[in-house]
Amino acid sequence: MVASVPRRLTTGRAALLVGLGVLVAGCAKNAPQDTFQPEGENARKIHDLQWPVFAIAGIVLVIVSAAVLWCVFRYRDRGQPIPKQTHGRPALEIGLTILPALILIGVAIPTVGTLMALSKTSDTECFVNVTGQQWWWEMDYPAQDGCGGIETPIVTSGQMVVPVGTNVLVRGTSRDVIHSFWIPRLNGKRDMVPGRVQTLRIEADRPGIFAGQCTEFCGLSHANMRMEVVALDAADFETWKANQLAAYEAPEEGTVAAEGEQTFIAQCSRCHQVDGLEDADGAPVIARPELYVYSEAAPNLTHLMTRNTFAGATWDLVVEGCRDRVWQATPEEFGAIYLEGVTADCLNEVDLREWIRNAPEKKPMYAEATELGPTDGKTRGMPYLALSEDQIDQVIAYLLERH
Ligand code: CUA
Repeated sequence: MVASVPRRLTTGRAALLVGLGVLVAGCAKNAPQDTFQPEGENARKIHDLQWPVFAIAGIVLVIVSAAVLWCVFRYRDRGQPIPKQTHGRPALEIGLTILPALILIGVAIPTVGTLMALSKTSDTECFVNVTGQQWWWEMDYPAQDGCGGIETPIVTSGQMVVPVGTNVLVRGTSRDVIHSFWIPRLNGKRDMVPGRVQTLRIEADRPGIFAGQCTEFCGLSHANMRMEVVALDAADFETWKANQLAAYEAPEEGTVAAEGEQTFIAQCSRCHQVDGLEDADGAPVIARPELYVYSEAAPNLTHLMTRNTFAGATWDLVVEGCRDRVWQATPEEFGAIYLEGVTADCLNEVDLREWIRNAPEKKPMYAEATELGPTDGKTRGMPYLALSEDQIDQVIAYLLERH
């Protein structure tokens, strides 16, 4: 007894739904990862290639579809006798082999040219090493004459800060599995592979933030592995560099932040480095993430509050209003706003607190003991630390001073 037959999803309806979906997806207003809006020389080269190829492919699609449809309707079986069978039509066959070959050659020439232009390294003005791991990106600036001169290496994560209008060469690798670095408005994707160094050119035309994300499936939190490129004009970039190398400032005695320093040393400094931090005996506190974490690294938190994201750029370190202020800043005002860093009023304490309280619950990481066999007991990402709410308060107060 069938009361009603559910409507079947016919091919036609499915095609309509998919088409509508694609159409609606194209309407996104706030799309920071849009390859069709290049904001740098390299992305523009890809864009300039993408449009003509898309147009050629579109014309071919229309012609082939029309020919197929015409044949389908014109030669439909209406009971007519089977046509005389021949071996074929040599002229047509040769023509239809040569024509696509010519089209492919026509597409290949500019494609190869673009690929060569995109892999050029001779005009590099600045180097940044980028290392992927589960599930965040580390950026380090080796000592160099480039980037306006760097004498002491700088280490940061989540946000790669670069000078505007400068050819930056990303030298990328990975500490665990294959990741892929992609800032759609600045360049295409580049896989970051353990044991190899792959290069990627980055150049941004204007000051601002350019969003990206890991585009190679790399484990449970692949979708939570994001990154941003922050472009600053030359003077602001110098300010940023100087700040990244500024000496450690211990919290004032008797404050919650001072208690936080002790909690940090006891609970966090096993993995997280804070440069300049010293223990009660005045010995430098050195992180040893290689003993605890599968990728053998954890983000350096020395200047955490100069970045406005955390945990693999998955969450903002700033609340929504402050985030809008940075993201919607004009190129002229952007540098000054970004360099303010995270103030107490802007701190996104909700997410930061949840993260410190139980990181694996917030971002899936295979942290269960039963899943750690293949990693020699080391965690992927930050483990659950069982801190008390008081300890979390202290750590947050301490971190808030890491400017
Ligand atoms: Cu890293 Cu996906």
